[in-house]
Amino acid sequence: MPLPDSFLQELVNRNPIEDVASSYVRTKQRGRTSVGLCPFHGEKTPSFTLYPETNSFYCFGCGAGGDVITFIKKIENLSYIDAVRFLSDRVGIKMPDDKTDDTVSKLRMRILEANRDAARFFNQTLYSPEGRVGLEYYYSRGYTDQTIRRFGLGYAPDSYYTLVNEMHKLGYKDEELVAAFLTYRSKKSPDKVYDIFRNRVIIPIINVHGNVIAFGGRVLDDSKPKYLNTSDTLVYKKTNGLFALNFAKSSKDNSLILCEGYMDVIALHQAGFTNAVAALGTSFTEEHARLAARYANEAILVFDSDAAGQKGTRRAIALLRQTGMHIRIVNIPGGKDPDDFIKLYGADRFKLLLDRSSNDIEYQLIELARLHPLDTADGRVSYLREASILLSRLSSPIERDVYAGRLSAELSVSKDAILEQVERYKKSDIRKYKKMELSQAVRSSEDMVKKINPQAGSNIRASHAEEGLLGLLILHPDYITAVSERLPPDTMITDFNRKLYEYLLKRHEQGLIIELVFLSAEYDADEMAYISRMVQKAREGIHSPEQAVEYVNVIHNEHKLLGLNDPEQLSDDKIKEMLDAMRAQKK
Ligand code: GTP
Ligand code: MN
Repeated sequence: MPLPDSFLQELVNRNPIEDVASSYVRTKQRGRTSVGLCPFHGEKTPSFTLYPETNSFYCFGCGAGGDVITFIKKIENLSYIDAVRFLSDRVGIKMPDDKTDDTVSKLRMRILEANRDAARFFNQTLYSPEGRVGLEYYYSRGYTDQTIRRFGLGYAPDSYYTLVNEMHKLGYKDEELVAAFLTYRSKKSPDKVYDIFRNRVIIPIINVHGNVIAFGGRVLDDSKPKYLNTSDTLVYKKTNGLFALNFAKSSKDNSLILCEGYMDVIALHQAGFTNAVAALGTSFTEEHARLAARYANEAILVFDSDAAGQKGTRRAIALLRQTGMHIRIVNIPGGKDPDDFIKLYGADRFKLLLDRSSNDIEYQLIELARLHPLDTADGRVSYLREASILLSRLSSPIERDVYAGRLSAELSVSKDAILEQVERYKKSDIRKYKKMELSQAVRSSEDMVKKINPQAGSNIRASHAEEGLLGLLILHPDYITAVSERLPPDTMITDFNRKLYEYLLKRHEQGLIIELVFLSAEYDADEMAYISRMVQKAREGIHSPEQAVEYVNVIHNEHKLLGLNDPEQLSDDKIKEMLDAMRAQKK
């Protein structure tokens, strides 16, 4: 049983796309739409567009698009029904009892419940005699009881069964525990399960909605592996979670401190830097960068000062730049990580480091200067070239001017000459960049069509007309009656478009409203993107009955050309009749 229309209508009315998207994307009003950087692909120029009138979104760069439910599905990585639940909870309306197949969403709920119970168990164990070793470990790292409570830290006993038995008592089934990555099945006797986390201190990972989604476990000594983390599950994907974002998101600073390890993060929070976060058991990814950009304008990178940390810093700079975030880099002296540093020198000294941190341009200039021998003419020339390329990527002319001035003093070259070179690189860069973004956009939307509607490639004219017509009908359901009388579904040539057409006709016949939101129950996110592209094309094109007739004509002609048995060619009279019908509807 699908969800009733009245409920869906209420749901979308209460969840305007602009409100919902504003937690994830910063947008600027532009006429009747608003635009921002797309949260679904990396870009520097905004092509993500919100349409309040249709309560929908569309990205001209990657082709993602759809209604507000599709938006939540994609950005929160949820199933349809969970996205609906998410939006209902958001505005406090009750979901009707639905009979849709929700095995997956039930399992998701069970995993979250199991994680919460396991976290409670680990935390209670920490304060029992068995967990004394864990507690001593935390104390030895300088963590207070208050910090332990705030982060819900725990200890997993040195046993293969304790957690399993505890969870069985609470009613969890083996497959739920395995799906949660709390236990694993024995290879030899697959009916037996064992605890995964054993004799480790346990750090629960909590998402911005306050759910325990995963765990990290650290050994108490020097044995390997030092850390064991939850693998990807239905509720956790390690490439897109930031540890402690649940706390950092409400910090008043408009910045996030990014560190490498979660022990660093805990130490920083304890020292009062409550905007610290870390990627978990993985290097920084594009998804992390986009997530960070949703919550702050500025990223302060505090990675370890070893070679791996430097490499990670460069990688993170490149990814964060894409989001338009302002970036600063803190260099911790003496090969320490933030946790070590604070323990040795205290929070005030760390604050000084933060205040004195360089921005990413300074950091990269210092790195460049290290790589080029500045005592030779050749070395200076190549340093200057690399540095100009770097400055050419700065969007602020003031920043460019300041650094050109510094380079000029450093190398005794005139500032004008440097700025001229920067300008040249900037021009070629912009051209290159625009071309690249455009070709990427074209490629991704072509790939999408190929995947969703494979017949479109060999029926180009027909599929264009079908897409044009369908887009138009979604924007102008009042045309449907007239069109349907002259264009039986069989006339549509590509299967995907025919099914969509039939679906629209069916809803229309039943007197139901046609809007993108009702399609999202039937179509997945990629299909919604394809449909949104049709709507987008229609929006940009001419909305007139004549245009609809033109599409209908093309479809009939193509049908005939293919040697298919055309149900009805349109005579001039028929066309006129059809136009009149639509005009009458329109008024
Ligand atoms: P401490 O030694 O406890 O202070 O940890 P650290 O944060 O200084 O650790 P390190 O710099 O070695 O690692 C930083 C981050 O890399 C950790 O927080 C983990 O997320 C990840 N990491 C380190 N070692 C391992 C490992 O053995 N396995 C996995 N999966 N991740 C690891
Ligand atoms: Mn450390």
